[in-house]
Amino acid sequence: QKGERTRLVEAHKVAADWYQEQLETPEAEIGRTFLAERGFDAEAAKHFGVGYAPVGWEHLVRYLRGKGFSDKEILLGGLASQGQRGGLIDRFRGRLVWPIRDTTGEVIGFGARRLREDDNGPKYLNTPETPIYKKSNVLYGLDLAKKEIAKSGRAVVVEGYTDVMACHLAGVTSAVATCGTSFGEDHIKIIRRLLMDTSQYRGETVFTFDGDAAGQKAALRAFEDDQKFAARTSIAITPGGMDPCELRLTKGDDAVRELIENPVPLFEFALRSAVERHRVDTAEGRAAALEEASKIITKIKDRSIQHEYAVQLAGLLGILDEQFVVRRISQLARWQ
Ligand code: GTP
Ligand code: MN
Ligand code: MN
Ligand code: MN
Ligand code: MN
Repeated sequence: QKGERTRLVEAHKVAADWYQEQLETPEAEIGRTFLAERGFDAEAAKHFGVGYAPVGWEHLVRYLRGKGFSDKEILLGGLASQGQRGGLIDRFRGRLVWPIRDTTGEVIGFGARRLREDDNGPKYLNTPETPIYKKSNVLYGLDLAKKEIAKSGRAVVVEGYTDVMACHLAGVTSAVATCGTSFGEDHIKIIRRLLMDTSQYRGETVFTFDGDAAGQKAALRAFEDDQKFAARTSIAITPGGMDPCELRLTKGDDAVRELIENPVPLFEFALRSAVERHRVDTAEGRAAALEEASKIITKIKDRSIQHEYAVQLAGLLGILDEQFVVRRISQLARWQ
């Protein structure tokens, strides 16, 4: 008898192939249109294995049963949920479906996007926690990106499935994304392990975030985690709040590559955000900004880099006496 993991991975392979076939059906027109409107042709969809889950209650369930999978296995894999009348219900219905693969390329889960106005579910629905899918240590696109990450010593972290697709198609093949969860410690560990593997250790991680509040928050959270990274971390802020997918669509592949090539160091981004949160045209505002930003700078371990940022902060606040800022930072550092 085969192990549980093997069975669940097999079920996911069968489901992924089936979803992909469904993308060719007349009903899936809405899904193909969605992809086309985001700049993805049939070849791109195929490269990432994008599929379509039809409207209805048990299309996939029946298909999987027909392929020899038990209801217990289908449930355990998160491919269906228990309906109120006892039967199984397809988890994904009337949605575009992205297969989520582990590093070795095996499908272990799905991310699925709503396509219809009358769908009351969340915009994206993901596989729940299962024996083979733990969202905290999955990075979408890692199977395709791991080689380039190790080779270039650089990882690019974007927000969503469509952003990973856009980046890869634009030539940024080191792009990965979390799956409906925030970037956390396990994700850091995965990337760090890959970066350590590189012979010419560069160890840089570039985050891209759209300019909205959620994106900013995520970036600052990443900053808090930066000290755990044995890597340089930078932020690529997309113009006009566009995500890489929108950027590629409106400005083309070159713009995506340029965005990734010109990121702002994380500390610089954090400093600017701290300064922007205060009214620096008043003495009180400048003092508050100085305190907040100084605290950020004290977290930098390298003394000469710390000094560099102190000078930068003085510039941002229009403080002519740089030494004043430097002294304030070493004062704060002593109390840490
Ligand atoms: P479009 O809205 O179609 O342009 O897709 P997008 O990829 O730009 O989506 P968005 O920027 O809103 O979200 C980025 C990522 O966050 C997605 O790929 C999902 O992984 C996740 N996400 C967004 N909305 C939801 C949601 O409602 N539930 C969950 N679990 N994750 C979500
Ligand atoms: Mn966003
Ligand atoms: Mn987006
Ligand atoms: Mn989008
Ligand atoms: Mn968005």
